[in-house]
Amino acid sequence: MAEPLKVGLAGLGTVGTAVVRLLESGRDKLAARCGRSIAVVAVCARSRSKKRDVDLKRFRWVEDPAVLAADPAIDVLVELIGGDGDPAKRAVETALAAGKPVVTANKALLARHGHKLAILAERRGVALDFEASVAGGIPIVKTLREGLNGNSFTRIYGILNGTCNYMLSRMEQDRLAFDECLREAQRLGYAEADPSFDVEGHDTAQKLSILASLAFGTKVDPDAVYVEGISSITLADLDAAAELGYRVKLLGVAVKTEAGIEQRVHPTMVPKDSAIAQVMGVTNAVTVDADGLTPITLVGPGAGGMATASAVVSDLADIARGVRTAPFGRPAARMTAIRKAPMQRHEGGYYIRLLARDRPGSAATIARRLAQRKISIESIVQRHDIRAQGGAQPGRSGGPVPVILITYATSEDAVRKALAAVRRDRVISGRPQVIRIEKN
Ligand SMILES: NC(=O)c1ccc[n+]([C@@H]2O[C@H](COP(=O)([O-])OP(=O)(O)OC[C@H]3O[C@@H](n4cnc5c(N)ncnc54)[C@H](OP(=O)(O)O)[C@@H]3O)[C@@H](O)[C@H]2O)c1
Repeated sequence: MAEPLKVGLAGLGTVGTAVVRLLESGRDKLAARCGRSIAVVAVCARSRSKKRDVDLKRFRWVEDPAVLAADPAIDVLVELIGGDGDPAKRAVETALAAGKPVVTANKALLARHGHKLAILAERRGVALDFEASVAGGIPIVKTLREGLNGNSFTRIYGILNGTCNYMLSRMEQDRLAFDECLREAQRLGYAEADPSFDVEGHDTAQKLSILASLAFGTKVDPDAVYVEGISSITLADLDAAAELGYRVKLLGVAVKTEAGIEQRVHPTMVPKDSAIAQVMGVTNAVTVDADGLTPITLVGPGAGGMATASAVVSDLADIARGVRTAPFGRPAARMTAIRKAPMQRHEGGYYIRLLARDRPGSAATIARRLAQRKISIESIVQRHDIRAQGGAQPGRSGGPVPVILITYATSEDAVRKALAAVRRDRVISGRPQVIRIEKN
């Protein structure tokens, strides 16, 4: 059998230790599949004395990730430290510059520096593989990069953050308010002490920017993503969605439009019978729309040590076999700067929830403002029974009345302008809630 592939592993946290375990438990199978074994030879983390649930005595300890990356005794660097800066960035750059392939799960690094790192990898003729960086155990990077080479993509969308999907599922199924649900998710370890990166949509945006780049051949640019989180979603919205045949999900959506590539992350109403609507809890899912195919939806674990390690090990197996694909599926020089479609030009259906002041002419004023922007209403529901948000007292005689509107396809610009006019007219209380609808 050929020489083993010698791995330098930087980062021994949730994913790093799971990679050690998976390489061990799958040793014989991997050797049979790849024609050679894959062996960790040296490791690195912040603290040498920290107790970990894997035996590290067999591996050489290296203090500095960049020193590990340049170590002549390793064939490949696995970077599982995280973060878009040093030491992860320096370690990856050092390995690539030394002509060593890199496997990483680091979405932050890829989203911020993906194109530059791809150029470096290409220049040195080595692989830069990052299956684990998006949707954990779901092989979506390979699907976009290799599995559908003959197709053009029109839209990629998905549930890319398990924390948000867990919270929305729990709110809907168990009638918990957002704050209550967040406290529970933190207690169970699904949400960080500072949850804003997840619940405000930034984690999803980083992952979406990587998928958009793979699908559309554009340079990764997380700043081109429009981002809205789920913290404004209330039980009233989830109830109304259910009644109207929808479910609310935090989606990352990348679409090719005439105005350019639209990348957006926001709470989204999806038809209740769609594949993506069935995905509950911490599970992730990605739907790919490509020409010549009916949509493909991949569903699976988006995070967790073992799920993520399975993607890392799969990338290592490619390297052991000598498979090298351009990091973003095409030569870096062929990746174009993103032509960002402005969010104002987004077109689709909208859910709008307003608290209309209970006085003569309110409904007529709202209807007039929407009509002025050529917004047609598919359905309208006036609710005297749903809960108020922000201290208003809807449904009481003389109090504001919740009005829920579903529009036919219109533009973001039209909706924003119509609602701004409605607010100026002072016929509603508080801010309108707006949720975009994504049809399958
Ligand atoms: N956890 C998941 O479910 C998941 C899913 C998909 C992708 N990812 C990605 O996988 C990567 C690793 O995530 P994780 O959850 O395993 O993180 P983690 O548990 O926090 O582990 C990070 C590791 O990096 C080490 N480290 C931090 N700073 C270092 C430094 N200056 N020098 C050397 N080592 C350093 C830490 O050392 P100590 O242990 O000594 O502190 C730790 O072993 C991240 O990019 C993350 O986004 C994670």
